[in-house]
Amino acid sequence: MAPMTRSFSPGGVPDANVADYYVRRVQGEVGLILSEGTVVNRPASSNDPNVPHFYGKKPLRGWKAVIDKVQAAGGVMAPQLWHVGVVSPKDSGWLPSTPFEGPSGFVASGKIGGVAMTEHDIVETIKTFAQAAADAKALGFNAVEIHGAHGYLIDQFFWHPTNQRTDRYGGQTLPERTRFAVELVRAVRKSVGLDFAISLRVSQWKLQDYAAKLAATPQEMETWLVPLAEAGVDIFHCSQRRFWEPEFIGSDLNFAGWAKKLTGKTTITVGSVGLSGDFLAAFRGETSTPSSLDELLRRFDRGDFDLVAVGRALLADAGWSRKIREARSSELIGFSKEALATLT
Ligand SMILES: Cc1cc2nc3c(=O)[nH]c(=O)nc-3n(C[C@H](O)[C@H](O)[C@H](O)COP(=O)(O)O)c2cc1C
Repeated sequence: MAPMTRSFSPGGVPDANVADYYVRRVQGEVGLILSEGTVVNRPASSNDPNVPHFYGKKPLRGWKAVIDKVQAAGGVMAPQLWHVGVVSPKDSGWLPSTPFEGPSGFVASGKIGGVAMTEHDIVETIKTFAQAAADAKALGFNAVEIHGAHGYLIDQFFWHPTNQRTDRYGGQTLPERTRFAVELVRAVRKSVGLDFAISLRVSQWKLQDYAAKLAATPQEMETWLVPLAEAGVDIFHCSQRRFWEPEFIGSDLNFAGWAKKLTGKTTITVGSVGLSGDFLAAFRGETSTPSSLDELLRRFDRGDFDLVAVGRALLADAGWSRKIREARSSELIGFSKEALATLT
């Protein structure tokens, strides 16, 4: 299950409704659940009061109940640790107690939305990720995922338009701008030890710019991901909006395919699995070939990636995995925006 923010944890505390939502996915035969983004212990790590915290007595007690229930049902789960960085306020107008913080205060190219972090802020932020990862392990989670994608804090360091720093955390090249994440991953590795899997979610695209590319070539991608692998990442969760899109001209490999080839690490692919019109139409019997699933399997069988994350399809339908395995295609529930209104 791909990480999906649900905003059903008032005051940052996940309650039984959140635990039961994940348990339903275990019962639906999801192999590994990545939690919704859950924020680390910084005053401005969140832009929504209903997003769960991964710090503090009550939220951690809530997460303990989640992982206990998930594992009692036979499930495996990792929390996704998140810091939003500099973002635009949500429609609700809610704001954290201190300004949003990021590498240079930019939300996007030339647009200020918060403050630039001092070196002290950076050190403290790295510590909070390490603490959250240690807490995840202590609570009994099976692994941890660091949210380094989609234009949020860690990705804001990677991306030149939002990282204009002139100290050791900035620079003209991607490896220079990767230093923050490398130090963060090293700290997380140190805090959880060697026998605990660390996944890092990364993306070329940003919520601020769907067409953004951090790495324009495989060589550049190598200079980005290899230092992160060396710092302690076990799994690269390669976020794409459409898994079948090639990452670079001249090869049909997607992002997860390239990440695996360049780092030798385990990779996760994601993006419109089971939700293309073709796929659903095919499973309803409206077209002759379920082309999207075929393409996923072709890439999987070729060894491009090791795991497949499913987002919206699982949000809308807790039983999606089992239905796919049992070929109960007529019972699949498609995704619509209304599915966001409740934790079904
Ligand atoms: C409602 C919703 C919330 C999301 N929240 C997160 C999140 O907290 N962290 C994250 O890394 N991605 C998040 N995503 C992205 C998903 O993990 C996934 O990459 C994306 O939906 C594409 O997969 P899909 O086509 O199977 O839905 C979210 C997506 C949706 C639809």
